[in-house]
Amino acid sequence: MPRLPLVHYVDKLEGAAWLDPAAGAVAGLVRKAVPAGKVADALHGVPLGHPVHPLLVVVPLGAWVSAAVLDLMPGNQGAAKTLVGLGVLAAVPSALTGVTDFSQLDTPQQRTGIVHQASNAVATVLYAASWLARKRGDHGMGKLLAFGGLAVSGVGGFLGGHLSYRQGAGVNRNEDLSEEIPEGWHSLGPVEAFAAGQPRAASLGSIGLMVLRREEAGGGAVSVLADTCSHLGGPLHEGHLQETGGQLCVVCPWHGSTFSVESGEVMRGPATAPQPVFQTRIRGGQLEVSLTGAGD
Ligand code: FES
Repeated sequence: MPRLPLVHYVDKLEGAAWLDPAAGAVAGLVRKAVPAGKVADALHGVPLGHPVHPLLVVVPLGAWVSAAVLDLMPGNQGAAKTLVGLGVLAAVPSALTGVTDFSQLDTPQQRTGIVHQASNAVATVLYAASWLARKRGDHGMGKLLAFGGLAVSGVGGFLGGHLSYRQGAGVNRNEDLSEEIPEGWHSLGPVEAFAAGQPRAASLGSIGLMVLRREEAGGGAVSVLADTCSHLGGPLHEGHLQETGGQLCVVCPWHGSTFSVESGEVMRGPATAPQPVFQTRIRGGQLEVSLTGAGD
């Protein structure tokens, strides 16, 4: 099936290195303004368990599309103005969550993301101007500006969809793990092969694992997590250990997502999905793991 020309240009954006200075500057500013912590976690959507940005964008877009429908019908000037203003206000939290996610994306994603943000910023300015024009009674100009804003926000929305569904921003990297690992227990080899107190790499078929023999338990207790960080796939076995919220955690080396080694719970974002944790047992000196614990 022939593709829209827009898709061709958006594909090219991913490789547009000339966008890197602007993207890097914005990402750096956001990381400085919203450092890792509770506020950043709330903006990423850690308490929600998935990114909060897609949830918030429906408010301005819904308001603006509704305003466009009203603008096409006579006698709805007051309601259309209200919806345009509501959309402008709702664009603020939407933008805040979006730029916070953007600040922790990889380079090709940030190239798309910076144009997505710029489009949405232009759309918001057009809608703000539309609201002001309507306020002073110039509804013709208000409609013109609003339809311009709708067109630009359509481009922004298309880029947002590309970022999520084509480039995988905000996608849980371990979603299909349970389908890839057969039920039952699987040997990872002699437990003594894993030095105590440091995350180590192991594999189960094509699945990478992070193995941690716990020092505080004399190396006898072992935590095993999926090695692929649920955020953007960073290798957890290259991360470091730290105590967070009273729990021993591993910190992803790429963007600092912090997971409990016991439960896989996200203790600090940008990851929002927990890290899969395997059950472990030691039989005859062999370390065995199971994702489900089923079978013997
Ligand atoms: S890949 Fe981003 S925090 Fe792990």
